[in-house]
Formats: sequence, C-alpha cells, structure tokens
Amino acid sequence: MENKTIGFAVCGSFCTHARAMEALEQVKARFARVIPIVSECTAATDTRFGCAHELMREMARICDHRVISTIAGAEPIGPQKLLDLLIIAPCTGNTLGKLAAGVTDTSVTMAAKAHLRNGRPILLAPSTNDGLAGSAPSLGALLNRRYIYFVPFGQDDPERKPTSLVSDFSQVADAAQAALEGRQLQPLLTAS
Ligand SMILES: Cc1cc2nc3c(=O)[nH]c(=O)nc-3n(C[C@H](O)[C@H](O)[C@H](O)COP(=O)(O)O)c2cc1C
Repeated sequence: MENKTIGFAVCGSFCTHARAMEALEQVKARFARVIPIVSECTAATDTRFGCAHELMREMARICDHRVISTIAGAEPIGPQKLLDLLIIAPCTGNTLGKLAAGVTDTSVTMAAKAHLRNGRPILLAPSTNDGLAGSAPSLGALLNRRYIYFVPFGQDDPERKPTSLVSDFSQVADAAQAALEGRQLQPLLTAS
C-alpha cells in the first residue's frame, strides 16, 4: 500500500454514484489514507439513484473518516497540506465550469483551490450530458491546465445522448497512481 493521503470528492452526478463507490473502495485499498468529500448538492439531494445520507455513511465507512461537506470543512486542505492528490469523481459539468472559471463556492471547488495552492495534482472524472456541448469549453480549458489530470472518458451513449461524456470509473485507481507520478493515464479517450 502506498503511503499517500488522497481526497476523494463526489459531485452531483447521481447516476454514477454507485460506480464512484466501487472506485472509492479500490482507491482505499491502494493508498494509506482517503479523506471523503461531497459537494453540498450531493449532501442535500435524495434521488431515484439513492439517498444522500446513505451515500455519505457509505463513504465514511469505506474511508474510516468523517465526510467533509462544507467550504469551511475543506479549507484546511490548503494550510495543513492535507492531501497528496485530490480526486473528483464524478465531476459534474457544474464543477468543471467552476474549476475552469476559478469559482470557489462549494466544498469541492474549495478543496480544489486549497489543494492547488500547494502545487499538487487533481484528478477529474467528468460525467455530464453536455460534455461535448455546454461543458466542452471548460473541459478544453482544464485539459490545458497544470496539475489537472483526467480519468479516461468517452461517449456513453452516442446515439441517444450525442453530447454526453462519462469517465471509466474502473480506471480511477490507475489514473490516480499516474497523476501522483505526474502522468496522464493513456489512452485518455475510451471507445464507445
Ligand atoms: C437525478 C439527477 C442527476 C444528475 N446527473 C448529473 C450528471 O450526471 N452530470 C452532471 O453534470 N450533472 C448532473 N445533475 C445536475 C447536478 O446535480 C447539478 O448541476 C448540481 O448543481 C451539481 O452540483 P455540484 O457540481 O456542486 O455537485 C443531476 C441532477 C439530478 C437531480
């Protein structure tokens, strides 16, 4: 097991939360410490895909650590140099846009800003229906940004959702390892 501390942040792409929990288990098995983080939207929203409280309980159980769910809770990540790597999986179009624009009004974007001040890597797992439309400029900006790496992603349903992109959550742990080494896991684009 690698002696690293990883932040694992979950945004409100509710249909991918089950896959994200599998990825979280794999990340926890590979790295010594994992600190769970959720966006306020994730913490407050029950959907047909699951109940917010149960998701957070599951994350706390896997990580054996309380879940960070506020801007104030995420702020110490910067001054305390808490994390070696921050994973955001899933990363919504909303959070992609905020990261690209430098907006910091959620727990997850605060975690990213605090962590980036230490010049350490962030791994994004985009999952958004407008990845090849409204969120494409954000994605493009972040692809060209220092310290930002991606979990390989691709079109999940080109016929019925032609602009939708989703990451391959089975590659999160490998992409995390690569990001810690300063490498983008390849191929970046998955086949649909
Ligand atoms: C049931 C449901 C499913 C959603 N799925 C997604 C998704 O897969 N990708 C996405 O970008 N937004 C999705 N959204 C919208 C986000 O939850 C919304 O943009 C929210 O503001 C995201 O906040 P966050 O990025 O801080 O987590 C979904 C919303 C709901 C209610």
